[in-house]
Amino acid sequence: MKFIAKTLEGLEDILASELENIGAEDIVVLKRAVAYSGNALMMYKSNLLLRTCLKVLVFMKEFEVRDETDLYDEIKKVSWEDYFDLTDTFAIDSVVNSEKFNHANFVALKVKDAVADRFREKYGERPNVNTTDPTLKINVHVRENTVTLSLDSSGQSLHMRGYRKHMVDAPINEVLAAGMVLLSTWNGERPLIDPMCGSATILCEAAKIALNMPPNSPDREYAFKKWKSYDPALWDMVCEDANKEIKDTCPLIKGYDINHKAVTASIENIKFAGLEAFISIEKEDFFYLEGASDTTLIFNPPYDGRLKEDDVVAFYRFIGDKLKQSFKGCSAWIISGHMTAIKNVGLRPSSKKNLLNGSIPSLYCRFDMYDGSKKAKWQHLQEQNPPIDAQT
Ligand SMILES: C[S@@+](CC[C@H](N)C(=O)[O-])C[C@H]1O[C@@H](n2cnc3c(N)ncnc32)[C@H](O)[C@@H]1O
Repeated sequence: MKFIAKTLEGLEDILASELENIGAEDIVVLKRAVAYSGNALMMYKSNLLLRTCLKVLVFMKEFEVRDETDLYDEIKKVSWEDYFDLTDTFAIDSVVNSEKFNHANFVALKVKDAVADRFREKYGERPNVNTTDPTLKINVHVRENTVTLSLDSSGQSLHMRGYRKHMVDAPINEVLAAGMVLLSTWNGERPLIDPMCGSATILCEAAKIALNMPPNSPDREYAFKKWKSYDPALWDMVCEDANKEIKDTCPLIKGYDINHKAVTASIENIKFAGLEAFISIEKEDFFYLEGASDTTLIFNPPYDGRLKEDDVVAFYRFIGDKLKQSFKGCSAWIISGHMTAIKNVGLRPSSKKNLLNGSIPSLYCRFDMYDGSKKAKWQHLQEQNPPIDAQT
C-alpha cells in the first residue's frame, strides 16, 4: 500500500523521521506531506502514533485527464463496490490546483456522480452521500491535469486529540505544538516550562512525548474502522503494543499563565488528557517568575496579530531581558508570527525555522542563555562544536 501523510508546512522532515521510526518504507518528503509505503499494520500505526500528521491518505491511483468526461470515466472504472455497500454512505473531499478545473466543488460533484452511477448501473440503486460522518471519504487532488485519488483513513483531522475541551484566545494547533517539541529535541531528560501556556497544548504534547504515550486515543472514530477491510484484531495488537511502551514517569513539566481563565482551561484540559500526574500549572506573571536553570522553555507569546499588546516589540524585549536574568543555563524556544518583535528579544538565535501557525507565517527560534561567565559560554560552544582532535 502507498500512503500520503499530510502535515503542516515546516514539519515535513520531522514527520519523515517519525515515519522512519515506525518502520515506514520508500519515504519521500513532499510539500505539506510525506509519501511512504507499508501495509495495513503501517496504516494503523500511522494513525495512532504519528504526532505531526494531520491525515493518513491511502493512495489508490493517479491519472491524467483532459476534461471532466475523462475524470468521470476514470473514477467510474474503480470497483467502489469492493470498498463500501449500498447501505453505506460516502463523501468527496477535493483539493484543486488547476487552470482547467478551477472549482473544487465541481470536481467533487463529478466524482460523486461517477461513483453513484457505477452503483446505479450495477444494482439499480446508489448509496447516499453523508458529508459529516461517511463510511468512505474519497479524497481527490487535482494538480493541472493530474488527478490523485486516495481514501482518507483518519476521518477527523488527527490534530484534534480530544483533550482540548477548554479554549483560550489564539491556541496553537496540537500537531504544531508536538512538532515544536520534537524540533526542540527535548526528550524528557530535563524539566520543561511553558511560561505562557494558554490552554496547555505544548505541555500536553510534551508530556505525551516524554511518556512515549500515543498522541491519539485508540477509541477515536478513525475512518478505517468503518471499512470492509478493517481488521480489529490487528488494530488491538497495535494499541496493546503501544500501551506497553508507555513510561510511568517523566521530568517536571510546568506551565504558567497570567490569565485566570487560561489557568483554569489548562488544568481542565490536562485532566481530560489524563496527564495531571505529570504537569503542574500556576497562575503567575512570567516577568515575576523565580527562574530556573538547566531547563527547556517552549512558548508562543502573544502579539498584536491575534491578541492585543500595547507595545509588542517592548514586550518581546522584556521577555529577552527576563530570560537572560532568570534562566541562565536554559534554552528557550519561541514561536512568533511577529517578525519585528521576535528580532527584539535581544539574544542571538542559535537556530531558526519557518513554520505556519494557522495561516500565519511564523519563526521558531532557539535562544541559549549561558550561565554568565565567558568561560561557561566558551565551554558550551566547545561542547556543541568539538575541536577536530576531540572528534577523532
Ligand atoms: C498565544 S497564547 C498561548 C497559547 C497556547 N500555546 C495554547 O496553545 O493555548 C499566549 C498566552 O500568554 C499569556 N500571557 C501574556 N502575558 C503573560 C505574562 N506576562 N505572563 C504569563 N502569561 C502571559 C496569555 O494569557 C495567553 O494565554
